[in-house]
Amino acid sequence: MFSAFTCVGCIVLLANYLVEGANVDYTQYVNVFQATTGGGNRFPGAVAAPFAMVKLGPDVVSGTTDAYSGYLSSGNIFGFSLMHESGTGGAPKYGVVSQMPVIGNVSNPLADLSQGRASADQGQVGYYKSSLSSGVTVELAATEHAGLYQYTFPSSPSIVVDVSHVLNSWRGLGWEQHYSGGNFSYFSDGHYEGYGTYNNGWNLSPNWNIYFCGRFNQKPSTSKTFKGTGTTLASYDTTSSVSGSERVGGVFTFESTTLSSRVGISFLSSSKACQNLDREIADKTSFQSLVDNAKAQWNSRVFSKIQVSSAASATDLQLLYSSLLGMFLIPSNRTGENPGWTSSEPYYDDIFTLWDTHRSHTPLFQILEPVSYEEFIRSLIDIWRHDGFMPDARSSNFNGRVQGGSNADSVLADAYVKGVRGAVNWDDGFKAMQTDAEKTPANNNDPKAPDSSTKEGRGALPDWLKYGYITPTFSRAVSRAVEYSCNDFGLYQVAKGLGKSTETTTYLNRSRNWRNHWNPSASSNNHSGFVVPRKADGSFVAQDPLSCGGCYWGDAYYEDSPWVYSMNAIHDVAKLKKLVGGDDKFVDRIDKLFDLNIFNAGNEPGFTSPYLYNFVKGKQYKSVERSRSISQKYNAGTSGLPGNSDAGAMESNILWQMIGLWPMTGQTTFLILSPWFSEMQIDLGNGKVLKTTTTGGNKDTAFYVQSLKVNGKPWTKAWVSWADVFANGGTMDFVLGSSSADWATGELPPSPASGDA
Ligand SMILES: *[C@@H]1O[C@H](CO)[C@@H](O)[C@H](O)[C@H]1NC(C)=O
Ligand SMILES: *[C@@H]1O[C@H](CO)[C@@H](O)[C@H](O)[C@H]1NC(C)=O
Ligand SMILES: *[C@@H]1O[C@H](CO)[C@@H](O)[C@H](O)[C@H]1NC(C)=O
Ligand SMILES: *[C@@H]1O[C@H](CO)[C@@H](O)[C@H](O)[C@H]1NC(C)=O
Ligand SMILES: *[C@@H]1O[C@H](CO)[C@@H](O)[C@H](O)[C@H]1NC(C)=O
Repeated sequence: MFSAFTCVGCIVLLANYLVEGANVDYTQYVNVFQATTGGGNRFPGAVAAPFAMVKLGPDVVSGTTDAYSGYLSSGNIFGFSLMHESGTGGAPKYGVVSQMPVIGNVSNPLADLSQGRASADQGQVGYYKSSLSSGVTVELAATEHAGLYQYTFPSSPSIVVDVSHVLNSWRGLGWEQHYSGGNFSYFSDGHYEGYGTYNNGWNLSPNWNIYFCGRFNQKPSTSKTFKGTGTTLASYDTTSSVSGSERVGGVFTFESTTLSSRVGISFLSSSKACQNLDREIADKTSFQSLVDNAKAQWNSRVFSKIQVSSAASATDLQLLYSSLLGMFLIPSNRTGENPGWTSSEPYYDDIFTLWDTHRSHTPLFQILEPVSYEEFIRSLIDIWRHDGFMPDARSSNFNGRVQGGSNADSVLADAYVKGVRGAVNWDDGFKAMQTDAEKTPANNNDPKAPDSSTKEGRGALPDWLKYGYITPTFSRAVSRAVEYSCNDFGLYQVAKGLGKSTETTTYLNRSRNWRNHWNPSASSNNHSGFVVPRKADGSFVAQDPLSCGGCYWGDAYYEDSPWVYSMNAIHDVAKLKKLVGGDDKFVDRIDKLFDLNIFNAGNEPGFTSPYLYNFVKGKQYKSVERSRSISQKYNAGTSGLPGNSDAGAMESNILWQMIGLWPMTGQTTFLILSPWFSEMQIDLGNGKVLKTTTTGGNKDTAFYVQSLKVNGKPWTKAWVSWADVFANGGTMDFVLGSSSADWATGELPPSPASGDA
């Protein structure tokens, strides 16, 4: 039920923002359908709180189009299920624990029961509604571990629970999920319980179980179980309990045409699923109270953390708050729901993936949700304790896939240098990082990249340790080498902080190994020097720097070109500048990323490059120009992102543009851009606030920085550090204008690995 609002109302509300932000309902600015089409793959359904385990929404089938989050704007709905991932690529995951409303007696529950929509689905934060062609309406609300379905039928209500229901993938890449069996029972009080077992998906997961417990607000007139294969029934209404590798489930009919059902889930047991349900959605809980709770959670924990001034436009507010929603839908807080472990540590799953999120998402996650962030870091370390490696990606309690480096190392380093301590055991944290850096993971024999593990860790480690670079024996050799360098820089940072002097030296040295792929003779468009494949004998392989070949799992570069990966050792920029031929060449290189259409705003490996102009005196204005042009690719609409949301990575990017800073992950440095809002306050927790103001210009046409004060003092550096404005809060007051000014004449941003390069 998102609808554009008039700005008359917004001015009145916004005037109150800075005064009593806690009372504002920011959800009015959120389009839950942002980025649900056009490849964004965002999940629009009911999510009770940031990182809630239950994400309740529709599952749609439309020809051979993959429904990554379950939702597609067109096509038939074949069920409403409790688990989804938001904004991912690769292949759909989950879409499990479903109900499907059907009118009349269901002669074959294994048949296609899907329905078109009578009108477009509607949604708000914490609320979802579908009107089916059959005349049934379904409204959804949720809590952390349970969901509430509210049905209105024209006549003869039936609810079908198909345990075999799961999202398919039609891409033919071998990443489709499989249902491998289940158990379903109904009981004399009218409730049902059971579990389903599923496997595969993008992370090639082995079998995993999800348990469920469903209750209705009235006793069913009839309850039946079914079992069968394909659409052929083997049994129907013969017993109250069915199990096995066949499709199993139940059918319930009711007298009343208005009906509700609440369903809880657990990874541990069906009795835990019932406990989760009854604790969170007691009998007679009102639907509206769940919607209200969800809005309150999102307002207090996320939206109210960023407050902006009354001059903000409606479109900017919608983009701000819709992006904040998208940023915090996953990972999933599954604390207490980790099967097979005994642990009192927090547990977060659905990391999809750190490869995408470590540049801009995790640094903003720390700032806006510091309590969860500390839990998330502890959880990464606890996954190492129990599974042997931290994940680069993970879902259904299983690590995978690894696209490049072991980016948890960079995430932990970022957290460490920015002071995340609390209950984090940093000795274990460093051991977990060292496992990535020193222990070759067992090969999982991935058909897409059979050379080494795609499950976890650093598969190409043998070469990295032996040569200081990665030979073509290993797939994705060059892009992995650049990421391993950044990851080793992370180890350096934490080793230094923990006072481990040998490791400090070792990993700083190793963080420079990206240079070993640098072929000074590789040339393209008047530039020479690019990272290229290198053989065991030390010779470089001929490589067009504009091409990444197939750019996929089996190639030398993953999803981006040598031009982009050559810029990505962001801890060693001074050396990079030297290698490319100095400041002017460096600036021209960044220009060429855009002029030659190499840069792709929708793909994460290039995320930092547009702002590296700040490493050249007098060129900060060009970073601002890039920031504004990238921002043009975003809006709050259904196709409002330039690529997959990628678990909120894309949304975090636009939020940094709005804030006017760019984080250099693994370091305390933030490059300065140009804030969008005349006033913005970021609540940093514990009473600390970062407040930015702009005067003299505007976001769209007069956005060049003329001068800046940080904490009241004139500032001439094109960067600030964590200590300057985040550790204790701070102020940044910008004067903007319509043409560039040479204000950033001070010390350049640090290049901590460059030494005296
Ligand atoms: C459904 O089946 C029951 C008996 O199982 C019957 O009484 C009822 O009339 C049927 N309803 C419809 C709509 O066919
Ligand atoms: C299926 O569930 C029923 C009822 O909870 C239980 O008695 C039975 O042992 C279960 N069967 C399997 C194979 O798990
Ligand atoms: C994560 O989930 C656990 C268990 O439900 C809960 O105790 C904890 O507070 C949650 N974390 C946050 C930050 O909400
Ligand atoms: C640094 O790494 C290189 C290999 O890239 C090695 O030859 C050298 O010994 C290392 N130096 C230190 C101090 O570890
Ligand atoms: C390369 O340099 C030549 C000579 O300076 C110039 O004419 C040409 O436009 C440049 N090409 C590119 C792609 O910059």
